[in-house]
Amino acid sequence: MDYNIIIQNVNFKNKGGESARFIPCVFVMKVVLAYSGGLDTSICIKWLEETYNAEVITLTLDIGQERSDLRFIEEKAKNIGAVKTYSINAKEEFVRDYINPSIKANALYEGKYPLSTAIGRPLISKWLVKIAEKENADAVAHGSTGKGNDQVRFELAIRSLNPGLKIIAPARQWNLNRETAKIYAKKHKIPIGSSSQYSIDENLWGRSIEAGSLEDLMSEPSDEVYSWTVSPENALDRAEFIELEFDEGIPVRLNGKKMNEVRLIQKLNQLGGKHGIGRIDMVEDRLIGIKSREIYECPAATIIIEAHRDIERLTLTREENLFKELIDSKWAQLVYFGQWYEPLKRDLDSFINESQHMVSGSVRLRLYKGLASVTGRESPNSLYDMGLAAYDMKDVFNHKLAEGFIRLWGLPSEIAGRRKKGK
Ligand code: ARG
Repeated sequence: MDYNIIIQNVNFKNKGGESARFIPCVFVMKVVLAYSGGLDTSICIKWLEETYNAEVITLTLDIGQERSDLRFIEEKAKNIGAVKTYSINAKEEFVRDYINPSIKANALYEGKYPLSTAIGRPLISKWLVKIAEKENADAVAHGSTGKGNDQVRFELAIRSLNPGLKIIAPARQWNLNRETAKIYAKKHKIPIGSSSQYSIDENLWGRSIEAGSLEDLMSEPSDEVYSWTVSPENALDRAEFIELEFDEGIPVRLNGKKMNEVRLIQKLNQLGGKHGIGRIDMVEDRLIGIKSREIYECPAATIIIEAHRDIERLTLTREENLFKELIDSKWAQLVYFGQWYEPLKRDLDSFINESQHMVSGSVRLRLYKGLASVTGRESPNSLYDMGLAAYDMKDVFNHKLAEGFIRLWGLPSEIAGRRKKGK
């Protein structure tokens, strides 16, 4: 289990915290906090100490966010008062168990959002529970507010994995807004950093940006909102062609080169970003009933899902393709709503996995000015028959068969039509 725990540090210096002064401090509660290193979760460390007299252990996962200097984040946590810090490189696990199922499901919430933030939460929850059990902690904590989807995702996952653990959501209990949070931080010497007007979440599968000027639905996101992608106007003037090969639903080769999938996704984020691909500006329906506007940058996800769907169209039957659309959209909805461990989600996974055995082959895409367009595809499992599809000399299709087929296919409507006329 410990193979990917890369750092585990005990902070003796700060045990008890500054506020303990010379009074020996008795910790009444041990809490494992999901810690990103940002302002809100930094405040959580202090707040948990003050409110619960808690011994705070932080857990930070590297799932491909850009600012993932884990040692720096651990130092910060310890300086604020964490008694122990864990850092986990979970990129491979994130790809294998969360991104790959999303690719197979062509997962797009409300047809647009590749679920990048949503699939990170159950993984963080899994590690929170794991570390809490290892440390014999009483509770786990997360920094989500009471307005969003993430609190739901964390808590449903944690409860499915260990219903006995207490869950603390400091941001739901304290009365802090952005301004008073900064005052609290200053008072407790918590570094505020370059806190922007936006709330940002990042991982390998994408970057989510909300709040600030984006709350006005008509205001066009300024350039500072984006960091992975250039605007299509500033993108390269020349198209770039890439070839992406899938093996049973999973991308395995880029331009003929076999690649570790973490690397492949990073590479596609970079290539797509250079061409302005994967910018999404969306008003979405949150689980709790609020509509909100989010900007996403998901270059790799956009390219991979586009290509994956194309190989499915070629290798699955019509019935499979049409039915799978329903399953895919339900899968995305369950995951968005935090139901990662809902048995129905597992049932759908079984269907989806079973459907992918034939989904192998290569897709050629043209990356140009914000668009990834498929310009060619091939597969050893292709169901495309040139002899049947062609309109020229190669045509082997018996056109006469169509006549009888249409009569029978239309028979129910025909009978209904006659009845109407008779009336
Ligand atoms: N709306 C997205 C979701 O519910 C992202 C939420 C987090 N967004 C953020 N900018 N921190 O999955």
